[in-house]
Amino acid sequence: MATVFVIFGATGDLSKKRIFPALFKLSKNNLLPEKFKIIACARTKHTSQEFREYLLENLEIEDKSTFTNFSKLIDYLSLDIAEDINLSNLSKAIDNFEKQANSCPQKIFYMAVSPQILKKSFENLGKNGLHISCKTHTNTPRIIIEKPFGSNLKSAQDINSTLQKYFSEEQIYRIDHYLGKETVQNIFAFRFANEIFEPVWNNKYIDHVQITTSEYIGVEKRGEYYDKTGALRDIVQNHLIQLMTLVTMEAPKSFNAAQIKNKKLEIIKKIKKLTPLEVENSTVRGQYDGYLGEEKINPTSQTESYALVKLGIQNNRWDGVPFYLRTGKKLTGKVTSIIIQFKEKGHKIPNHITIQIQPNEGIGIELAAKKPGLATELEPVDMEFCYKTSFDSDQPEAYERLLVDVILGDQSLFLSQEIIEESWRIIDPIEKVWQSGKPKLATYKPGTWGPIEAEDLIGKDGRKWLQPLLTICKI
Ligand code: BG6
Repeated sequence: MATVFVIFGATGDLSKKRIFPALFKLSKNNLLPEKFKIIACARTKHTSQEFREYLLENLEIEDKSTFTNFSKLIDYLSLDIAEDINLSNLSKAIDNFEKQANSCPQKIFYMAVSPQILKKSFENLGKNGLHISCKTHTNTPRIIIEKPFGSNLKSAQDINSTLQKYFSEEQIYRIDHYLGKETVQNIFAFRFANEIFEPVWNNKYIDHVQITTSEYIGVEKRGEYYDKTGALRDIVQNHLIQLMTLVTMEAPKSFNAAQIKNKKLEIIKKIKKLTPLEVENSTVRGQYDGYLGEEKINPTSQTESYALVKLGIQNNRWDGVPFYLRTGKKLTGKVTSIIIQFKEKGHKIPNHITIQIQPNEGIGIELAAKKPGLATELEPVDMEFCYKTSFDSDQPEAYERLLVDVILGDQSLFLSQEIIEESWRIIDPIEKVWQSGKPKLATYKPGTWGPIEAEDLIGKDGRKWLQPLLTICKI
């Protein structure tokens, strides 16, 4: 079907780093509909040609000649989706494409804009009738919304109620791009297609779980957004809580979107909300040295670039198992991993399973083996499955996968409002105590694993961090 893909916030960081590269790759691999138009919208004044040149200069693209063909699909419109009451230019651009394509296109709107202007943007789309389907077919427009969905439960509900004035649930695609990662989808396969893990996947055998997303980069050009958001809301509220639910949810009866959502919702509701005292004792917030000097950061900012929270789940399977979720910018390297540490049974080498989401994608199991020799000594050894050696096909980027799903109308990998609200119910009590200055904002040196307080927190529990980068698929 002819499709028009409208991007609001087309000159922003997300568009530059993720959306355009993903669309480009899909186009190169012939995965876009035959009749496809991209309308890039942002406030900056550009002609379409200038914008194409801007993309060519700003995207990290090696294959410049193929890009020129792709860029012909792009038209640029200078508009302010939050402030321009009249969006007739956009309607006209869509109509023009309809004439060219000789069919009424499926409309897709990508809201790559700041959460603060989402409500006004939905109102504007609605008031200009852009949420309505074509006369000639019943496919209603689809709308993609980027995280964070609001900045707390209340604002998430508020944004959603405006959204739902114009768009029904089947039209809404709430993105958490981690769910589009191949390795994240594999958590399902790993758990539910390999029966050997099920009997030990519980508090009788598992001691604790460490979920880490560390980044080497700092806030870069995103200071304005980041300083208002912080690591807890930027990564923990969405990506890390999602990973936690995938590791802990019960198997759905069948693997359809509705059943999976129900099971996820069931587990997320069981994550215990921390009391103010628990927030003080079971969380760490940190800021890297040099953060205050970054572009567009308030020089007295107390925003955290590092967050660690210790959570628990109140159900039979997981009661008593701590989940340490941590993330930070300017850490020692870029890695996302889930480490499941099993209980020690006297031999001093507790097994652990590492699900390495990125890089060196794979799954590793640390086992105890007898060291060759006359003495009976045990040593840890690794057993690994690595994507690079097991499969020779390329892994699609998360955004490629998710954009294709929107084009096809498949909502399985997108979030429901209920799940988002439950995540805020976990995050809000933490944020509230942090806003009151507790625990004290820690600092850390760039290139480290974060503040010393994070070592202390896990150390207090008699445990230590297992450094993900060092463990697996180093090919
Ligand atoms: C985004 C955050 O959701 O995820 C960014 O807003 C972060 O701050 C990014 O850099 C990390 O994504 P990935 O796919 O590189 O791990």
